[in-house]
Amino acid sequence: MTFEIKYKDARGRAGVLKTPHGTLKTPALMPVIHPGKQTLDVSKYGAEMVITNAYLIYKNMDLRVKALKDGVHELINFSGPIMTDSGSFQLSLYGDIDVSNREIVEFQEKIGTDIGTSLDIPTPPFVGRRRAEEEMEVTLSRAKEALEVRNSLMLNSVVQGSTYPDLRAKCAQTLSEMDFDIHPIGAVVPLMESYQYSTLLDVIMASVENLPDSRPRHLMGAGHPMIFSFAVALGCDFFDSAAYILYAQDDRLLMPDGTYKLENLVEMPCSCPICNSYSPEELRIMKKAERTKLLAQHNLHISLAEIRQIRQSIADGSLWELVEKRCRNHPYLLDALRKMKKYTSELERYDPPYKKTAFFYSGPESLNRPEVHRHLERLNRLPRKKRLLLLPPTEKPYSKHVDQGVMNFYSNMKISDYSNTKIPDLAKFSGENLQIVVVDIPFVVIPLEIDEVYPLAQNEAPQTMDQDARKFLRDHLERFVEGYQEILVSAEALEIFNIPLENLDITGNPFHENEIKIPSINSLLNDEIKIRYIADYQFGSGSGKALFDGETNIIKSKKTGKIRYIYDGDDLIATLRARDGVLVLGMEGARRLHSHLPYPINRVVVNEDAEPFAREGKSIFAKFIIDCDMNIRASEEVLVVNQDDELLAFGKSILNAEEFTSFNTGQAVKTRKGGF
Ligand code: GUN
Ligand code: ZN
Repeated sequence: MTFEIKYKDARGRAGVLKTPHGTLKTPALMPVIHPGKQTLDVSKYGAEMVITNAYLIYKNMDLRVKALKDGVHELINFSGPIMTDSGSFQLSLYGDIDVSNREIVEFQEKIGTDIGTSLDIPTPPFVGRRRAEEEMEVTLSRAKEALEVRNSLMLNSVVQGSTYPDLRAKCAQTLSEMDFDIHPIGAVVPLMESYQYSTLLDVIMASVENLPDSRPRHLMGAGHPMIFSFAVALGCDFFDSAAYILYAQDDRLLMPDGTYKLENLVEMPCSCPICNSYSPEELRIMKKAERTKLLAQHNLHISLAEIRQIRQSIADGSLWELVEKRCRNHPYLLDALRKMKKYTSELERYDPPYKKTAFFYSGPESLNRPEVHRHLERLNRLPRKKRLLLLPPTEKPYSKHVDQGVMNFYSNMKISDYSNTKIPDLAKFSGENLQIVVVDIPFVVIPLEIDEVYPLAQNEAPQTMDQDARKFLRDHLERFVEGYQEILVSAEALEIFNIPLENLDITGNPFHENEIKIPSINSLLNDEIKIRYIADYQFGSGSGKALFDGETNIIKSKKTGKIRYIYDGDDLIATLRARDGVLVLGMEGARRLHSHLPYPINRVVVNEDAEPFAREGKSIFAKFIIDCDMNIRASEEVLVVNQDDELLAFGKSILNAEEFTSFNTGQAVKTRKGGF
């Protein structure tokens, strides 16, 4: 079985899993098939994999005999990959079951399951620590036993540990050292049934952070589409749904925004074939069995459509937007979204810095997104000047519109407010000693040199600012301005952001347009400085000097006037990608960065076997990577070297550093060029 990541967003991944019975896309939803009772063909609705219960088959003599004779695929009439559960859930319901771990694992192998499960103990939330610990040890020893018993059966091994994050972490760590294929996160059903999503968040994070990135994770028993995107953003890849049938039996319709009761409906809620063909009244007067089947079909349509939308969002880079939408569908989910703040830096390591779609601010929770956190960190990579000019936001990209903004800046100055301060000679300013930044939400401080780099131009926020955003802005601005000798600020900016003047220690205000010749802000910016700033921001301090020292020839697009190529003679140092303002290295750029940045910064180290392929410019597969800079994120421009740090190639990372080292399958770096 192999698992590969194709796209990443947040901590989520869209990938492919190969099994003996076929390949499927992840994240995936496995409908639960009741052996012997199933009447719906779930593959018709797009299910590529299913889960059924080996214990129920084992317990029923007819089913057992048939499964042993014809196999589980024949028994439940599904030709794709099948996962089986072990009876642990029955164990958690009834306290005891009459099969041993060894027996049920052997049985799963005999009936031809693709992925089997050992008899873990689903310890409920909030039990005493002693019990959680003891039961976790039993779960671990049964997982070990399953490995000894199986021949070629692939194995789930379930993370338990109740609501103790350290026990979840320990369990996950222990399991990750053993040879399992998928890791379910167990015993979370009670948390979901009682809407305790914040606790669920902690349980998932403690587990996911300690599981290998190279194996899929399954949030066991999670079947409501409302929480799929949230769990995917935290790193879950599989869901199973008994909900589609259980809710149908109860005359309830699943929707990504919650649950609808048929008795309350005057309109059908979606555009699936069922909702298109029947009215609520028609369904209500129908015979129960017929109605249940139709509602189950709606539930499957909706649940699988949500999974498809999640996969699309990951490919687009808009998973956060989807999560923020979905989490507004229940106040406790919103609470969990807010509590994700404590995991921002963990999530940031996995979140790709450059995405295809714009960052949309949907509310104060967006301030906790990795993109914001990352920008505020990466500002430290830029050179510090003595003077700072703070400008209010304009349309984006700011540098295009800033001169108009500055006109407003002068005309709006309130002389009377600051009559004691001295008037600066703005005309004498040059780019050398003045840092011009736009102050805006959510990125707080946007130096004009980098204002077209993703996501600083590729984001939208409402003009009317919420209180949290205002406070966020003030707090981070206060931190940013520390150390500047002189701060100039527009009255408009002060007003918009309610910046406390006394804290900022502003000098040199104000000035009036009649008194000073107004310089064009754009005339203070220059292309050489701009590309150096972008390089520093992207690759780290000093990279700009390393890349663009000496003679450089900057070629601009005739159409847009934007910087496109930076050459030294005939040698391409870098291209500035129009879409996101990111520097894409050329041969000469890679060479310069390699000789400037000390090992292991920005390096992906491959073994001898991969060296010839890398030199030819072929893509780098994860299994060849033996070391790397642990700060590499997915979607970044990286250098590919051998063990002696000789430059072989350069390209774009598809995975982050942790994933480079964890995966043994799939592409890791899309090479742009080799041949050094
Ligand atoms: N189904 C729902 N939760 C669980 C769990 O914790 N373990 C197993 N094996 N199955 C489950
Ligand atoms: Zn429908």
